[in-house]
Amino acid sequence: MLIGLDNPDDAGVYRVTDEVALIQTVDFFTPIVDDPYWFGQIAAANALSDVYAMGGTPRTAMNLIAFPIKEMDIAILRQILQGGLDKLTEAGVSLIGGHSIEDKELKYGLSVTGFIHPKALLTKKGFVPGDRILLTKPLGTGIINTAIKAGMASEEIIERVTKQMARLNRDAAEAMKPFRVHACTDVTGFGLLGHLCEMVVDSGLGVRITAEMVPIYPEAREYAAMGLVPAGTYNNRLFREAFVDFDDKVDAIARDILFDAQTSGGLVIVVAPEDAEALLTALRESGIPEAAIIGKVVKEPAEKIRVTAS
Ligand code: CO
Ligand code: CO
Ligand code: CO
Repeated sequence: MLIGLDNPDDAGVYRVTDEVALIQTVDFFTPIVDDPYWFGQIAAANALSDVYAMGGTPRTAMNLIAFPIKEMDIAILRQILQGGLDKLTEAGVSLIGGHSIEDKELKYGLSVTGFIHPKALLTKKGFVPGDRILLTKPLGTGIINTAIKAGMASEEIIERVTKQMARLNRDAAEAMKPFRVHACTDVTGFGLLGHLCEMVVDSGLGVRITAEMVPIYPEAREYAAMGLVPAGTYNNRLFREAFVDFDDKVDAIARDILFDAQTSGGLVIVVAPEDAEALLTALRESGIPEAAIIGKVVKEPAEKIRVTAS
């Protein structure tokens, strides 16, 4: 076993031979958008993401379904499954089975199996001082989803954020392969700063983030200012703020967004400084214009995240 419960990462990893390791992960959740077809796509993109975050290639997947069959039209389930299947097809992943149960609350997700060369494995550790940190999707989906549920979001932002959540992290993962990438993870429920906390803990190193370099949805600022901040985001900030040293110039809204719980967020890629600009160019050329260099690894203060405004 290469990665298991004693060193938790985005996925579990098991060495099969000297050349091949198996990556396994599972993710499921309740609907985050109204449209069942898009929900299926987002759930699949999210489940596949942990394999990409390990540097691996997903190959097979199985559906996990909880559905209120007595109260809900089966056509909704069909659309969810079609969304998931279409996303798997786009990723070149075969659906090989699944399991469904009756439940009061609809839930959907997938278990995903992928492969990687054991030497190419990317974990949340392994970075060195001076490394640059890149992020590949804008932050703010948790806040925007809260605004959607409150009926406050415009059609335009709903469409933009839905497409972004449904987007595979595959292109970002492909783009990083030629470069000296030292660590990688994906941004999900803990928010950017929560996931960075996991990276710095026990690393003996710290991280510096420049808030104005971090890509965010402008609407997320707007909605956060109206108080539309989900409980998950609030809890992230509550539990992990002790690890974060905010510059006075970083306002309360920016702090919320940096901790915002993401659904199917982007990759955090930690790369050797000499490769940072070239990786950024490669990401943008593979159709990820939002990608940005957002900070770097530092020696001091160790196991802390320092956030400056600019
Ligand atoms: Co992950
Ligand atoms: Co996950
Ligand atoms: Co990883």
